[in-house]
Amino acid sequence: MRAMRIHELTGIDALRLEEVPPPTPGPGELHVAIHAAGVNFADTLVVKGQYQHKAELPFTPGMEAAGKVLTVGDGVTGFAPGDRVLAPMRIGAYAEEALIDARHAVHMPDGMDYAAGAAFPIAYGTSHLALTHRTKLQAGQVLLVLGASGGVGLTAVEVGKALGATVIACASSADKLAIAEAHGADHLINYLTEDIRARVKDLTGGVDTVYDPVGGDAASAALRCLNYEGNFITLGFASGTVPQFAANYLLVKNISVVGYSFSTYRFEQPETMRHTLDEICRWYMDGKLKPHISYTFPLEETPAALQALVDRKSTGKVIVAVREGG
Ligand SMILES: NC(=O)c1ccc[n+]([C@@H]2O[C@H](COP(=O)([O-])OP(=O)(O)OC[C@H]3O[C@@H](n4cnc5c(N)ncnc54)[C@H](OP(=O)(O)O)[C@@H]3O)[C@@H](O)[C@H]2O)c1
Repeated sequence: MRAMRIHELTGIDALRLEEVPPPTPGPGELHVAIHAAGVNFADTLVVKGQYQHKAELPFTPGMEAAGKVLTVGDGVTGFAPGDRVLAPMRIGAYAEEALIDARHAVHMPDGMDYAAGAAFPIAYGTSHLALTHRTKLQAGQVLLVLGASGGVGLTAVEVGKALGATVIACASSADKLAIAEAHGADHLINYLTEDIRARVKDLTGGVDTVYDPVGGDAASAALRCLNYEGNFITLGFASGTVPQFAANYLLVKNISVVGYSFSTYRFEQPETMRHTLDEICRWYMDGKLKPHISYTFPLEETPAALQALVDRKSTGKVIVAVREGG
């Protein structure tokens, strides 16, 4: 089978398309024909050796996929050959076949195509679990989303609206903000040209939750918008700058800074992750979630797919179509 592999952690250019033997499922694993894989900012860190989880070289990157079950390993229940599944993974999605831990796989909803399935588990899973489990966003509260047209940011806008919140979307251009608006954002702030704190003051007075995959100056400004007992969810640093939080400011306003990593739930709390994946599939069937895909690349162009995120060109998700019609 064909697989994108990496032999040294020197960045995107180290990715090579190679012929490798197909994998054999162990106990609890699904052997899946991958039709489409989702691209995540974390992939751009993985190939440089800068991601928190390290894999042994050589390996195939790719953290989420949608495909069809070929065979199942010992002890697997609930899945059979021919089932269409989607799942978050640790590595391995940029290949024609992969092994998926059955505990983390869910059946694809009827009517969902493979590209949407690959765009689904990490982006929606991250936002749903962050806003329902890690914090508990309530209807009527105000949610501010940084990087609101990006992979996870755009899903936070949709999940926030599905939970009944007022959503303020922040992004770096009018085109990106228009996408956030089309996905339900109530208010829009261009954080390259506008002062986040002043605009929030005018729009809603303050916010109850900040969802931050960006960090940097935008994070510092967003922290200052929080209401009494607000939550600041820190989940990524796409800007390259890790925000610092002054404890005295947190104390005075009873603010909680909530550290959050979706991937840890795969092993720490697999039932919580499964609940989230099942619920977002139901919400998709109910028409509450509408995956947005800005670019699709064939498997051999996986490096270009990752580069689209680094260049800040993409909105919503970038997909690698592994098989024709993927
Ligand atoms: N903790 C978790 O569980 C979890 C899960 C998934 C993702 N993440 C993290 O969340 C972040 C976003 O991931 P993603 O997959 O959604 O990526 P993405 O699709 O590339 O989105 C990143 C967003 O960040 C903004 N941004 C600001 N400065 C940037 C820069 N210098 N380079 C690139 N983008 C920049 C961009 O929007 P503007 O141009 O509008 O600023 C872009 O929309 C990453 O740090 C990722 O590691 C964390």
